[in-house]
Amino acid sequence: MSNRKWNIGIAILFIIFASLLLSFLLSTIRIRELLQPILSDETSQEAARHVILIAQELENPYWRSIEQGAREASAKYGMQLEYAGPLRINPDEQIKLLEKAIAAKADAVLVQGINDPQYVDLIDQAVSQGIAIITVDTDEPDSRRLSYVGTDNLDAGKVMGGLVAKAAGKRGSVAVLIGNEQAPNQQLRLKGLRTVIGQYPELSLVDVRSSNISRLQAAGAAEELLIQYPHIDFMVGLSALDGIGIAEAAERIQRSGIKIFAFDALEETLTHIRSGKINSTIVQQPYDMGYEAVSQLNNHFRGETLPGRHFTKINILDQHTLINETGETSP
Ligand code: BGC
Repeated sequence: MSNRKWNIGIAILFIIFASLLLSFLLSTIRIRELLQPILSDETSQEAARHVILIAQELENPYWRSIEQGAREASAKYGMQLEYAGPLRINPDEQIKLLEKAIAAKADAVLVQGINDPQYVDLIDQAVSQGIAIITVDTDEPDSRRLSYVGTDNLDAGKVMGGLVAKAAGKRGSVAVLIGNEQAPNQQLRLKGLRTVIGQYPELSLVDVRSSNISRLQAAGAAEELLIQYPHIDFMVGLSALDGIGIAEAAERIQRSGIKIFAFDALEETLTHIRSGKINSTIVQQPYDMGYEAVSQLNNHFRGETLPGRHFTKINILDQHTLINETGETSP
């Protein structure tokens, strides 16, 4: 064969080879493009961190707000949120739910502090296993939790003391409903309240009863207090349903002239403020607590060191601020 024929043959073979290679490369790219959405979906599902929020009480509207905030932040950061909690306040069940979350190897758990040594051990165990723990609403400061997101409860108690002292003109008798005797957030609020009341010799705190964070029990305990101490001028509820329960009791036994101070901004509390049955309320930000706690988790997973505490804001609502802020008219 002549040299020329050889060259033509090699050139033809080269062209065939090059076009085969090109079409192979093009189809690989095409296949990759087609698979991309499926692959990235699988990776993101694999990477979706499993976060469990354990409430103090599952259907409590205050905890449902925390859940809502946590859910929205989880959606934003591609995490998968599971909401759990006892049907009625039950710290033993909160402990069991934390045990279950650890056994399920959750990536993170948001818990309420309950001031219990067994619970502290569990938090520490979870953290040593690489499970991120953040306390919400109530801190567990002796544990190795990464951060606390919630109200500065001691300060909130002092603010409440200031409201009562101002309304009392520094003189009078105060009775208190506390959500739960063991709950550290309630104890801190009570401590703050006592500190301020203690500064006025003619202002006295006559009794403290527990509502077990139940509206029904709050109404029952308030009624007992009002009957036992007919001279009470002021009643304070330190958890979300207490003020509503106190208002119900005062109405039931037709005790007018009593000034009621509440916590949180449940719809019924606002209705009672509008109608003047409740004097004012200290509003916490449960939605923000949930949202911020999950945002902090996201920072942690990105390798950031979290602040030991992240206080959410409180503000005071009374008839005047409600009317000014919403343009409502006085009832
Ligand atoms: C407290 C929560 C509690 C809720 C009960 C809130 O004021 O911060 O700890 O679970 O009231 O209704």
